[in-house]
Order: sequence, then structure tokens, then C-alpha cells
Amino acid sequence: MTNPNPPSALTPSFGTPLTHSALRVLLLGAGELGKEVIIALQRLGVEVIAADRYPNAPGHQVAHRAHVLNMADPVALRGLVEAERPHVIVPEIEAIATEALLEIERKGLARVVPTARAANLTMNREGIRRLAAETIGLPTSPYRFADSYEELEAAVREVIGLPCVVKPVMSSSGKGQSKVDRIEDLRAAWDYAAAGGRVSLGRVIVEGFIDFDYEITQLTVRARGADGSIGTCFCEPIGHVQIHGDYVESWQPHPMAPAALAKARDYARRVTDDLGGVGIFGVELFVKDEQVWFSEVSPRPHDTGLVTLASQWQSEFELHARALLGLPVDTTMRTAAAASAVIYGGVDAKGIAFDGVAEALAIPGTDLRLFGKPESYVKRRMGVALAHAPTVEEARMRAKAAAAKVRPRLP
Ligand SMILES: Nc1ncnc2c1ncn2[C@@H]1O[C@H](COP(=O)(O)OP(=O)(O)OP(=O)(O)O)[C@@H](O)[C@H]1O
Ligand SMILES: [Mg+2]
Repeated sequence: MTNPNPPSALTPSFGTPLTHSALRVLLLGAGELGKEVIIALQRLGVEVIAADRYPNAPGHQVAHRAHVLNMADPVALRGLVEAERPHVIVPEIEAIATEALLEIERKGLARVVPTARAANLTMNREGIRRLAAETIGLPTSPYRFADSYEELEAAVREVIGLPCVVKPVMSSSGKGQSKVDRIEDLRAAWDYAAAGGRVSLGRVIVEGFIDFDYEITQLTVRARGADGSIGTCFCEPIGHVQIHGDYVESWQPHPMAPAALAKARDYARRVTDDLGGVGIFGVELFVKDEQVWFSEVSPRPHDTGLVTLASQWQSEFELHARALLGLPVDTTMRTAAAASAVIYGGVDAKGIAFDGVAEALAIPGTDLRLFGKPESYVKRRMGVALAHAPTVEEARMRAKAAAAKVRPRLP
């Protein structure tokens, strides 16, 4: 018997996992976001293979098969794809050997979501920033790239000014990133970026600081519509709070002036049209009055979008799963408002325990995700509290109260 699925078909044939008819999807990265995508795929009878750099990652625990490898190593990545022969490859993290994905896609070995080019461009701040600002022409913060402290200082003195934000070109979750208010603090920002970046040491982006009123994630889905063509759907805007470049709280919908929302969606549509393919994108934007700046985009579910587990009929993870399988999507909310609040590990230990779960869930309208990460760090995201309510204010209060009730502790 042969498998009915040609490797790159956009509308695959659905089959039975672990048999000849299986439709196989490989997740590259199996953290808390990947775990939810895997659960959504499992519900549609997809055979799911999860890869991460350490054993028993959250997504490993809910997949049909689990692999541990360095996904930034092109030889290891190619080896995995040859062994598992997935029909679809879904990058969940940025640190992947994306040249190998470009080659896999070019050879027609598997379809990459949304596209190998999108994964390649967005893993490096330089690729996506130049595309958005210089090719597409979206408004962004002023920026320069620098390979040495001297270049950085010259860029700040001559063009960018202060305050500014220094970031490694390859990093996420705020790693290696700092805001600089005084020129004498620039050297420390350079050193911090060099230590916090991954893969390519020593290249940074320096951006002018945008004094925004608020920032949003505009979740944008490219999916097949009823007529078979690929269309764009938008979720309600998600507001969020970032501390040291890491998200701590998010809510939906974030109220916006109609003109600002229209601009945000126009920018989101233009950048996602260019990146192409199917799937969900988290478009990050800064807003001040009716001015909107594009910041960056993830061609995958976004951490601030965890709130959609409580707010939408189809969470961002279900939207991604559906879109990548060539299925129609529905981005409507099922509640007036919802919020999420991060639960940090609070301790450095393996196999931690959690107290207060029942107390947290006794708060009306709340839900929880405990990710099951085998090792906790003080500042590692170990879970998230979710809440729905009639208003955003009430939802935020409930989510924060529920998160505070959950107390991670040494085993
Ligand atoms: N130019 C800027 N002006 C003002 N604030 C900024 C600027 N750049 C970044 N920030 C703040 O820092 C946060 C993190 O920045 P950015 O999204 O570039 O980093 P990241 O490491 O990719 O984070 P993540 O992976 O969590 O999205 C932003 O959400 C914003 O709050
Ligand atoms: Mg970001």
C-alpha cells in the first residue's frame, strides 16, 4: 500500500496515524506552543512527530514520536527528515538550520509552514527588518546594524540617538536585549548582546526607542477559504505587557482607534502576503494615537496568543493546525474578553511540584495550562493562567489572581 499523500499537497488526504494512510506532521520545537499545536493536530487524526533539544519537552509528551536533536545542525535536521518522511514540517522555534529547510522545500521532500523562506527571514532580525522596512516600506523604528562596539557607538551618535534598544540579530524572548538611556551604558549593552545572542556572535541591531502608548500582537491567518483560494483572516488585537522583553500578561480584545486598527491590519496583511504559505503569524506592532510601527513577525503561534485558548472558538493553535492542513478557519471570539498571566518557575529545580491549583481554578472563568517542563528555573515560563470575563479589566484581574494562586515548589 502506498501513502496517498504527495509530500507537498496543500490539501492533504486525512488518514489513520501509525498506518500507511497516515498524514505525518513534524514539529521542530516542542515547547508549550508546539504542545498545543500537536494536541490540535492529534484531534484531526494526524500522526505527529515532535523534535526538541532536550528530552521530555512539553510537546514530546503528547506526540506519537519524540526526537532529541540540535535543530540548528543541518546534518541532524536532514537526517531526521529522511528518517521520518513527514508531509509537513512546522517550525515552532527560530533557532533552526533554515538553509536545510529551504533545500527540503526546493526538493519537494516536504511542505514547510508557512514557507521555508519565512522561517529563514524571521530567524534573523536583519532579514525581516530589511524586508519590512526597505522592500515592503512599512514604518518601523529607525535602525542600524553593527558588528563591533565602535560601529554601534557611531550609529547611536550619528543616526539613532538616545534612548535606543540594542538586540542581538539572533535572539528571542528579550535575550541579550537592553534599552540604553545614556551613552556611557552603551558598552554594557554591547557586551550583554554579545553574550545573549545565539549562533552568530557579535552582530546587533540598534533601534531608536519608540515611546508607544501600547503594543499589540495582530494574529493573522493565511488559510484556504471555501472557494479554495488562500485568504487572510484577522483575530481581534491582543494587548500585552512585556518585562525585559518577555511577555508576562496578555488580553483580548485590545481597544483600538479604528484608524490605528486599519493600519495595523494593512501592515500585517502586507508582510504576511510577502512571506506567503499558510498558517498563523504573530505580527507585533507599536501604537501611539493613530501612528503604527511594525516591530517584528513570527510565522507561527505567538506566546501572547496563549490568551486565545480562553477567548476564541479556535485558539491560535487550532487556527495554525487547520490552516497548515489546508482547512478553513474561524477567528471569532466566544467571549467578550479574556486574559492570560504567566506562571514562572520561581525555583531552580527538576521535577517541581505545584500547590494551589484548585484554589486558582476556584476563581470564576479561569483555566490553567501547566506545561510539564522537566526542569524549572526562577524565570522560566512553566504555566499560564487564563480567564474570560465580561470586560478586559475583569479578565486581567482573574488571570493574575489565578496565576498568583499557583505556587511552584521544590519536589
Ligand atoms: N524600538 C523599540 N522601542 C520601544 N520598545 C521596544 C523596541 N524594541 C523592542 N521593544 C520592547 O521590547 C519587547 C521585545 O522586543 P522584541 O520583540 O524585538 O524582542 P524579542 O526578543 O523578539 O521578543 P519575543 O521573542 O518575546 O517577541 C517589545 O515587545 C517591546 O516591548
Ligand atoms: Mg517580539
